[in-house]
Amino acid sequence: MSHLLNLGVLISGRGSNLQAIMDEIDRGEVAARILVVVSNEPEAYGLKRAEGGGIPSIVVNHREYESREAFEERLIEVLRDYGVELVVLAGFMRVLTSHFLKAFPMRVVNIHPALLPAFPGLGVQEKAVNYGVRFSGCTVHFVDEGVDAGPIIAQAVVPVFPTDTGDTLAERILRMEHRIYPKVIQWISEGRVRVEGRRVFVHGANFGEEIAFIEPVV
Ligand code: GAR
Repeated sequence: MSHLLNLGVLISGRGSNLQAIMDEIDRGEVAARILVVVSNEPEAYGLKRAEGGGIPSIVVNHREYESREAFEERLIEVLRDYGVELVVLAGFMRVLTSHFLKAFPMRVVNIHPALLPAFPGLGVQEKAVNYGVRFSGCTVHFVDEGVDAGPIIAQAVVPVFPTDTGDTLAERILRMEHRIYPKVIQWISEGRVRVEGRRVFVHGANFGEEIAFIEPVV
């Protein structure tokens, strides 16, 4: 059997992206295994999902650390102990500094519920609705030292309807998140992802169906 990519998934809440990745692994669509789920929030529902999937989980509560660096040091320790190769941020609501990123250079990916570089930060689905954009979507990117700023691997586009609220748009975007995130992990696992500066090239991926997904397809 070919090598399974060893994942560590970092969450803060609901964990629906974690679930989507677990499901695609179970379906044999993603050649990876989740060695550990780490949450900075003790009450995160995603911890129950990890348990349901028989995946070890650990809480690293940032409030219990005196500095960001001490918190990150503990994260690094846990991820290294488990032999994690790719760190997957799935609704992880803490910004990671260069201290953490140096431990996993270009081995941290994130999903963001907007079409970056538009709408970085928090509460972005509502911001997109209120701004009046006609399209939004989600972005999977490598994490660098900026906030929601690293090289883009894949994006999916959804329409924004006049009747939308932040919540209805978030739901539409989330369905796309669950499609593109497992796919990106599979590409990385297959060694098909190459980064040149800001540009990411995915060997053999279909433009329009994969790396730049539009829903509904036009
Ligand atoms: C997702 O929409 C994800 O894109 C977003 O939080 C949600 C987590 O949902 N992430 C960010 O905003 C990161 N800044 P989930 O816990 O159900 O996967």
